[in-house]
Amino acid sequence: MTQDPVTDQAPSPAEKRPALIPATPPGIARAAELLRAGRLVAFPTETVYGLGGDATDDRAVAAIFAAKGRPQFNPLIAHVPDLAAAQSWAMFDERALELAQQFWPGPLTMVLPRPANSALSLLVSAGLDSVAIRVPGHPLAQALLKAAGRPIAAPSANRSGAVSPTTPHHVLESLGERVDGVVTGGKCQVGLESTVIDLTGPEPVILRPGAVLPEEMERLIGPVRVSAGDPSAPKSPGQLESHYAPNASVRLNAGSADADEAFLTFGPDRFLFGGAIRLNLSLQGDLNEAAANLFSHLRQLDQSGAARIAVMPIPDEGLGVAINDRLRRAAAPRP
Ligand code: TXA
Ligand code: MG
Repeated sequence: MTQDPVTDQAPSPAEKRPALIPATPPGIARAAELLRAGRLVAFPTETVYGLGGDATDDRAVAAIFAAKGRPQFNPLIAHVPDLAAAQSWAMFDERALELAQQFWPGPLTMVLPRPANSALSLLVSAGLDSVAIRVPGHPLAQALLKAAGRPIAAPSANRSGAVSPTTPHHVLESLGERVDGVVTGGKCQVGLESTVIDLTGPEPVILRPGAVLPEEMERLIGPVRVSAGDPSAPKSPGQLESHYAPNASVRLNAGSADADEAFLTFGPDRFLFGGAIRLNLSLQGDLNEAAANLFSHLRQLDQSGAARIAVMPIPDEGLGVAINDRLRRAAAPRP
């Protein structure tokens, strides 16, 4: 039996079940207390649920990697409640300040130089001299970060390489007793992970597309290079090819589905053929709605037991770029 990371005692079976923590002020206080004690608490952000741990506590951060089965070379995002807090953990230049003022709180993560002698666990940066930092906008995340009073490392609350969680139920499905508590907010509004932009070099580079679009950032800081999805230059160690993978294999750009396939559609689909089961990302063809539904629909189709999920083409513009990024990785050859 594994030892409790905080008390060094074996947990009793009852304690091993994750606490469902209500989204109330006492619930938030309890979640913050768990985090300060080095425990892992999953909590909602507007993008996806995060698996939170104290980013200044090596043992808590190591427990995050263990719970996810995540390779230790893949660094984590540190979450803080506001720009002032962010400035004590990362070095902001003019560009970073511009972006923070415009897009924080929100679905944007910035990779910035890590100050020397930072008290942030080195594991968070996976040995790099940079740190990824984000100020989420979700009111529960805001309340929790303020109550915790320290930076919280939080990758998406799923097993490494699997589909990200957008509801508390997804977290329990994915991590079960590997997490000490789950703050039960509702469904995540954005539904895709934050945009990650690397500002450690002279040229800003988008490492992961998300809801904050390159053109929105270019208006403030000039040209931005998009490197996401370029496997020849994996600057971000998280750019592993296969990711967001359901159990079923995934077939992209499908105009119809075979009788034994699950069918993930987009826009009007009444006259399309096939599919043992069918779910529509957005009947109206709304990319925001499609992003919010993507991970939960993939999970549901996976649970139908179909061996393959056929996916209709999604327009590669605006938020569609981020959706297609996730779908390409879901369809990539598995390790
Ligand atoms: O929306 C999100 O960003 C969610 C919520 C919980 O905030 N978090 C999330 O974390 O998606 P995660 O760990 O699943 O993805 C973080 C990404 C990974 O691709 C990682 O490689 C990259 O950010 N990253 C983190 N620190 C980095 C660094 N110092 N340099 C380059 N890439 C970094
Ligand atoms: Mg993830």
